[in-house]
Amino acid sequence: MLRNAPVQNRRRGKNPRFTGFVENRLAIASRALSAAGFPGRSGWFPVIEPADVSLDAHFETELARLAEQGLLREAPTRTAVAATSDLLDASSNDYLGYAAEGVSRETLLALAGEKSGSGASRLIHGSSAAHLDLEQDIAEWLGLEAAMLFSSGYAANVGLLPALAGSGDRIVSDALNHASIIDGCRLSRAKTVVVPHLDLDAVRSALEAPGAHRKWVVTETYFSMDGDSPDLVRLRGICDEQGAGLLVDEAHALGVFGPEGAGQCAAAGVQPDALVGTLGKSVGVQGAFVAGSTALRRWLWGTARSLVFSTGTSPLLSALTRHQIRRLRADEAARRRLQTLSETVLRRLRSVDVQVPKAAHGPIVPVLVGSDGPIDQNTRALQLAERLRADGIRAQAIRSPTVPPGTARLRITLHAQFTEADVARLCDAIIDACRAQ
Ligand SMILES: Cc1ncc(COP(=O)(O)O)c(C=O)c1O
Repeated sequence: MLRNAPVQNRRRGKNPRFTGFVENRLAIASRALSAAGFPGRSGWFPVIEPADVSLDAHFETELARLAEQGLLREAPTRTAVAATSDLLDASSNDYLGYAAEGVSRETLLALAGEKSGSGASRLIHGSSAAHLDLEQDIAEWLGLEAAMLFSSGYAANVGLLPALAGSGDRIVSDALNHASIIDGCRLSRAKTVVVPHLDLDAVRSALEAPGAHRKWVVTETYFSMDGDSPDLVRLRGICDEQGAGLLVDEAHALGVFGPEGAGQCAAAGVQPDALVGTLGKSVGVQGAFVAGSTALRRWLWGTARSLVFSTGTSPLLSALTRHQIRRLRADEAARRRLQTLSETVLRRLRSVDVQVPKAAHGPIVPVLVGSDGPIDQNTRALQLAERLRADGIRAQAIRSPTVPPGTARLRITLHAQFTEADVARLCDAIIDACRAQ
């Protein structure tokens, strides 16, 4: 998840598009000068030389560099995966515990006969009844007119944003929006103005500036690495006043907040112009959707490239997802429990010297890592995760580029099926690990 890259670049005074353009022109000029016999690298213009090491040697060098900075990620082996199975899960987005449960025999039997695959993209081979039924269920759940399935939340955002915004438009995007939103903004070719996290005055100023054909605001409603939320009522008001469309990503809010788990917009009584939801987090399956008006759905059908040029999702999974959504809507007990557990954990951690951001609420609990002392922050985050692991808890160290450099953290997620003893053990382990640093 590449968060905040535009902000970093802006801070350093670099606009990535402009820098790329200049570098390209320099390379062309360099080649021409070099061909004409002018001095190269040691002279007064850079020469782009062909790579002189093998691809694998290049990978090894770069991976070693990442390891030095505490930024290396390694895919787990089969043995490593097996070793995590007994740990208490405080890292997945399976907030209601549905994904981990395993599908019951009864549910599997009810799904028998569903097609395993859709065979081609939705446009080419048509849609199955399971897709259409699921889309209708989602729309009804969220109180919106229509929904369109995508293969993932990433695909939904990189499909939606370029389908709506284009050159001449302006997108105002929160600095901590998910990488899929950032990439969608980039693909759209609209001018993207990145505003400080949750700063609605900055949103208004960015919208007020003249010179845009259409204006859009895009935000997550429950930020996945920070556990905080924008004031959606105020944001909707600003969009209306400025004639901007409001696009929200409810990936981490669905199932957790709002009536029947319908998310933060439903909780606030706000109607967005497009709502992205994922089906692989609280719903516990896989895939995603964009919900909104019937006209939006009709528009996306032919213009969202990640939908048009990608195989339709599995009808079997759509049927399973319908089952999970029905269950999730009725599961107020799990939502209430999650809320109570979250309050308990936040209260306990905040009562001691553990750094949890003030605005964090709900089941995502970021534990910030200090930057003083000889050990770099990324390594400290990894060490915290390692200490928790030794206590039987699986929590994720989150480093750049998932979060901005200098804000490495341990990301704890809570789950409705945690017992009181689990929560006490988790808090003790976090407190001990932080004190030991
Ligand atoms: C806010 C947000 N949007 C989109 C996604 C991508 O969803 P998916 O995992 O279904 O691709 C994520 C994933 O973590 C996310 O946090």
